[in-house]
Order: sequence, then structure tokens, then C-alpha cells
Amino acid sequence: MKFFIDTANLSEIKEAQDLGILDGVTTNPSLMAKEGIKGKDNVYRHYKAICDLVTGDVSAEVIATDYKGIIEEGEELVTIDSKIVVKVPMIKDGVKAIRYFTDRGIKTNCTLVFSAGQALLAAKAGATYVSPFIGRLDDIGSDGLELIAQIKNIYDNYGYTTEILAASVRHTMHLIECAEIGADVATCPLSVITSLLKHPLTASGLETFLADHKKVNG
Ligand code: E4P
Repeated sequence: MKFFIDTANLSEIKEAQDLGILDGVTTNPSLMAKEGIKGKDNVYRHYKAICDLVTGDVSAEVIATDYKGIIEEGEELVTIDSKIVVKVPMIKDGVKAIRYFTDRGIKTNCTLVFSAGQALLAAKAGATYVSPFIGRLDDIGSDGLELIAQIKNIYDNYGYTTEILAASVRHTMHLIECAEIGADVATCPLSVITSLLKHPLTASGLETFLADHKKVNG
């Protein structure tokens, strides 16, 4: 399973990269705004800074919502760095744009996916990644993980190569259950990844080992 970090914060991205487990980065306009990045030039510079930190794919989301605008923006975004994946919303013009990008070898991430039907369309259009939002579905009383399982089943039935990128992952159980279902990728905040490290028996076991070592070795 690939781990992507869902942030535009450079120090968190560096920390995840330094951990040696990072496969890529996802961003969105809200995450960019959270870092106070504004103005096209600054936004593009920030994407470049992210790309320089990591070895994997970096999703950069288009702001345009019309076909022509999405194409223009996407074609500009991919000039920033070869790691850029054009993140396109699941709307009619977005699906058309994904087909356009796919036919030209440009990687895409179809975002804001909340149903199996939307995921099927994204795969038909040839998206590189499809991003179903687990946490946001849970927030409205739906079962986000059930959607991941449904998409996995549909993609397996037809051998679609679109990778399932579980998004809006809020806690470690989301991540672990996504791995059990067989999602290709999970994107989440750094805190979710580092929480995987924690187990009380690891902490107490290590404390005992070190204390016993000290008793003998001083
Ligand atoms: C994914 O690409 C999205 O940016 C992200 O996972 C959304 O997560 P949120 O629902 O926690 O904002």
C-alpha cells in the first residue's frame, strides 16, 4: 500500500519523507490556503518546493471548473515538475478533461468522489487515481470504508488500472481497514501515519529492556 501525505506543509512533508515511508503528496486549495499560500506564482512555487522534497507523485488541484479552463490549468501545472499529477474534481467537465489528459499521458487524480458510480466514471475516463473521501462520508452518517470496498470490487471485476486513493482518512483504523480492503493508496495527515507507531506494549517493553540493560551495564 502506498502512503501519501495530505498536506501542503513543507516541514510535515519533509518529516514524512525522512521517515522513509512516503510515496507521494496530495494537496487541495483548502490545504494551500491553510499554509497562507496565495497568488498563482506563489502557489506554483510552493508546488515546486513540495516536488523538490519528495520522490513520489504530487497532486495539484485545478481551480477551473470548465473543460477549457481545466485543460489550460492542468497543462500549466504539469510544467512545474514531472511529479505533478493534475487533480480534477468529479464533475462533467472534469471527467472530459481527465480523458483529455489521459490520452496525452498526463497523470490525473479524480477528487471529491463520494459514490461507486462516480468512481466507475473516473476509471472509464482513465484517471490515474480516484479519491473517495472516507471521513467526509462518515461525517454525514454514511460508511466511507464500505465505498472503498465497493470500488475495489468494481475495479477488480473489470481490471481497471485506476488506483484507489483513499482520501479524507482521519485515523489509524481508517488506514488499517483501507489496507485490509486493498486500497492502493491512502492519503492522510502526518499524525495518522505517526500514530501507527504507537502501542503501549512497545513502550513498556522497551522501557523494561533498557532498564534491564542498565542494571547489568550501569
Ligand atoms: C484528498 O485528496 C483530500 O485533499 C483530503 O483527503 C480531504 O480530507 P478532509 O476531508 O480531511 O479535508
